Amino acid sequence: MNDLHRAEMADQELADAMDKLVIVKSAIYTSGECDPREPPPRQDTTGRLHLMGPDPRLAKMPSKPTLFDFFKLRFGPAIHMLQSARLAQKNGCDEKVILACLLHDCSAAGFIRADHGYWAAQLIAPYVDEEVAFAVRYHQVLRFYPDESFGYKYPDSYIRLFGPDYKPEPYLDRAHEHCRNHKWYGTARLLTVNDLYSFDPKVYVELEEFTDIVGRNFRQPPEGLGFDDSSSAHMWRTINWPTRYL
Ligand SMILES: [Fe+2]
Ligand SMILES: [Fe+2]
Repeated sequence: MNDLHRAEMADQELADAMDKLVIVKSAIYTSGECDPREPPPRQDTTGRLHLMGPDPRLAKMPSKPTLFDFFKLRFGPAIHMLQSARLAQKNGCDEKVILACLLHDCSAAGFIRADHGYWAAQLIAPYVDEEVAFAVRYHQVLRFYPDESFGYKYPDSYIRLFGPDYKPEPYLDRAHEHCRNHKWYGTARLLTVNDLYSFDPKVYVELEEFTDIVGRNFRQPPEGLGFDDSSSAHMWRTINWPTRYL
């Protein structure tokens, strides 16, 4: 069997699987495009079952997925996070900061963008030092507030992205204030300093460069992320099978 034949077979298998399934998106995927006050568009479900497992359109995850499996199969190319981690390493940061850089945008990359620092911190909290989760939670907030003493100025890219008149909301002001007075402020701030404003598509960083740092600082559950009954296991499962009906 040649490659073309194999690809055609795979396409056919996917089409067959899709014919047998009802796949429904959660409201959060469509809110805005659809009015969430309205009932979702009706599908013809005759003779089909609602999806209760992995989405056949997505790359199959191993039964005991590791952090790296999520990076490779669910977090996109993740170049920005890899380049930030390498920069932190080059700048001589300690392993907590490097790990925080490696993980900091995992929610934006594979889960939810709005308040991505908070979601990412919750995702990783059971597996990392509290200080790492703290830095990831607050990097999103600190990005809006300059701190000359760390050489951090308001990103030019934010002016382009959000306009010159954007002002952080009061909840961000409060979170900034809280973080600023916290003993781990420096860790969170260092994450923002190494959080690259713009990534260079020509600089390629291998995930495997961080195998040892992750091995020492990320408590990979033997059951696999999502199947270990931690307080964020359900979130990892949702990233694994995002269109599961219930
Ligand atoms: Fe971020
Ligand atoms: Fe970032």
